[in-house]
Amino acid sequence: MKTATQSASSIVLQLDRVTKRIGKKTLVNDLSFTMSKGEIVGLLGPNGAGKTTTIRMIVGLISMTEGDIRIGDYSIRDNFEKAIRHVGGIIENPEFYSYMTGMDNLKQYMRMSEGVTEARIMEVSKLVGLELALDKKVKAYSLGMRQRLGIAQALLHNPSVLILDEPTNGLDPAGIREMRGYMKEIAEKEGIAVLVSSHLLSEMEQMCSRVVVIQEGKLVTVRSIGEEKQSEPQVTLSLQVSNVEKTTELLKGQAGVKVEKESGAGNGRIHITLQHEEIPSVVKALTNAGVDIYRLEELKSTLEDEFMKWTEGNRIA
Ligand SMILES: Nc1ncnc2c1ncn2[C@@H]1O[C@H](COP(=O)(O)OP(=O)(O)OP(=O)(O)O)[C@@H](O)[C@H]1O
Ligand SMILES: [Mg+2]
Repeated sequence: MKTATQSASSIVLQLDRVTKRIGKKTLVNDLSFTMSKGEIVGLLGPNGAGKTTTIRMIVGLISMTEGDIRIGDYSIRDNFEKAIRHVGGIIENPEFYSYMTGMDNLKQYMRMSEGVTEARIMEVSKLVGLELALDKKVKAYSLGMRQRLGIAQALLHNPSVLILDEPTNGLDPAGIREMRGYMKEIAEKEGIAVLVSSHLLSEMEQMCSRVVVIQEGKLVTVRSIGEEKQSEPQVTLSLQVSNVEKTTELLKGQAGVKVEKESGAGNGRIHITLQHEEIPSVVKALTNAGVDIYRLEELKSTLEDEFMKWTEGNRIA
């Protein structure tokens, strides 16, 4: 009970049946999801799925046609200014004065926003690893450094939700890895909920605890990453054995073991699904019956496979 109450109260972003129509086109269709404090969530979908449109609505750049978004305790519809105060984000490439230093850019922003201090500038700069580059002119910054300066700026006013639209676009692998690290720190140290959009599942898997998958503006699924898979009691194994026919015959008689697929005669492969605890007895039974096992591998349906299935046939190149 306690956890239920806690999780309800730690929700910092809530999309409630959000729809965006422009003319006859529905860009976002009845989309609902929530995010809790300190969580990194991926907004995942192929090109044209509606990620940027969703993000624009969350940061208040465009209006919703239907539904509502709550940030902290405030509804964007009823209390726009208060709601928006709790969100920070980078939508397109952040614009900076390139002839000025990173520090001067942040100070410029500080002058325009209420309650931001120099101490906060130092704090956010450290958080994104820019403290040693603050005195450099922005024109000398790499793309990754500019991105991080953008994140620093978005964090200055202490938002509870940070929204980043494809933050790793154009970064090299080292830059992507760095960005990942900074996001995790932001989420952990500041307890900020970070929503990151991407069309690359592999990238999301490495930084998010959950992914919200959308396609053609609609919610496809919300998935936790990591934990669920490990606790799954059923496993699918691929076995390479000296006698496929005999193996099939033996295993078809075993309760709780499902033969999924066979290939080859004699020496060949067989796929079976069974409970984790049953594996030793199956191996013993085969060995006792004179079947040699050359390979035994777990077949994992990766989230990538599932993602391809969800978005199958609807990919826009
Ligand atoms: N102002 C607009 N008027 C009409 N249609 C639009 C407008 N903006 C976007 N769209 C369309 O809405 C759909 C969703 O666009 P959106 O930019 O949100 O997708 P996305 O998921 O961010 O895609 P990408 O991965 O390419 O960035 C697309 O089909 C796009 O062409
Ligand atoms: Mg986009």
